[in-house]
Amino acid sequence: MIDLRSDTVTLPTAAMREAMYNAEVGDDVYHEDPTINRLQEMAAERLGKEDAIFVPSGTMGNASSMLAHAGRGEAVIVGNQSHIYHYEVGGASTLGGSPMVVVQTEPDGMLNPYEIEINISDGSDEHSAPTSLLCIENTHNRCGGAVLNLEQVEQLTGLAHYHGLKVHMDGARVFNAATALGIPASTLVRSVDSVMFCLSKGLSAPVGSMVVGNREFIQRVHRMRKVLGGGMRQAGILAAAGIVALEQMVDRLAEDHETSKQLAYGLADFPQIDINVDRVKTNMVIFSVRNSKLEPLGEEEIMHFLSKAREHGVLMGHIGQGRIRAVTHHGIDSNQITAALIRIRRALIELQV
Ligand SMILES: Cc1ncc(COP(=O)(O)O)c(C=O)c1O
Repeated sequence: MIDLRSDTVTLPTAAMREAMYNAEVGDDVYHEDPTINRLQEMAAERLGKEDAIFVPSGTMGNASSMLAHAGRGEAVIVGNQSHIYHYEVGGASTLGGSPMVVVQTEPDGMLNPYEIEINISDGSDEHSAPTSLLCIENTHNRCGGAVLNLEQVEQLTGLAHYHGLKVHMDGARVFNAATALGIPASTLVRSVDSVMFCLSKGLSAPVGSMVVGNREFIQRVHRMRKVLGGGMRQAGILAAAGIVALEQMVDRLAEDHETSKQLAYGLADFPQIDINVDRVKTNMVIFSVRNSKLEPLGEEEIMHFLSKAREHGVLMGHIGQGRIRAVTHHGIDSNQITAALIRIRRALIELQV
């Protein structure tokens, strides 16, 4: 099976398993796990922030950050295509009583500054919830791994800070963004107040994400992680894999960006595939399938295509609105992309639409 559903399917490397086996551990709720402490120091340093905290998942990292930034009744601005808005069960609103104000996400993952500005409330009008946080996403999942460049990030943080808002970056794949831009991740995030990034996606660790920010903010995230049940005791056994992820798996992300381009260009050669190869910037490829009349397939036909592809040994995901997503990662090399293209072609031929 060539599994292109997500970079979350990556398996821990041999070096990770060995580090996990040998990890020195302690009770992290007492801040006494030396391996977690080391990972947190490394993460803060890599992102150029004062402090960091290890959390079980990206969802908990985003939720605890939003809870730490925005109090009950304070609004959070998010993009309408953001992971936070679509896939995290409304965390800040559900748990923290923070209404989410939703603004349009552009196809390149950017949020419209004008729309943000007109949606900011300073609290002087008693009818509206005062806005305290803007969330941005980089790379952007539903925009096919799109990258916000430094200028775009700083345009948004400049605007938010001018109005007294904090900025949280859902940087689940922030190292993919930095790799694509060819700049250090610390430079890319220098103007944001907090970043969540995942160890468990392209970086291939089995579990875990990090939140970074200033010391006082991270102390508040500790409290929020606790209320969410994320205090994990001897979790250094997991953090050990995270250390290997940061040391050994960041530089190789460029390979995933190459294989995704190989996949995109290969798919573009098939008349049934509708794809914009210029949009492929990192490890994700989004495309749709057309029938013989060059009309887009309906939902049912898409599911049929995906099951045909599965029969031929390629797994991909449907992300709605007729769009199919394929993600490259550590488990996929160039030969597998060549094989995947042959199998997808067979699936298209058998589909007969
Ligand atoms: C952009 C983005 N943010 C957050 C998450 C949540 O991470 P987790 O699955 O670890 O909760 C994901 C997961 O795919 C993601 O793609």
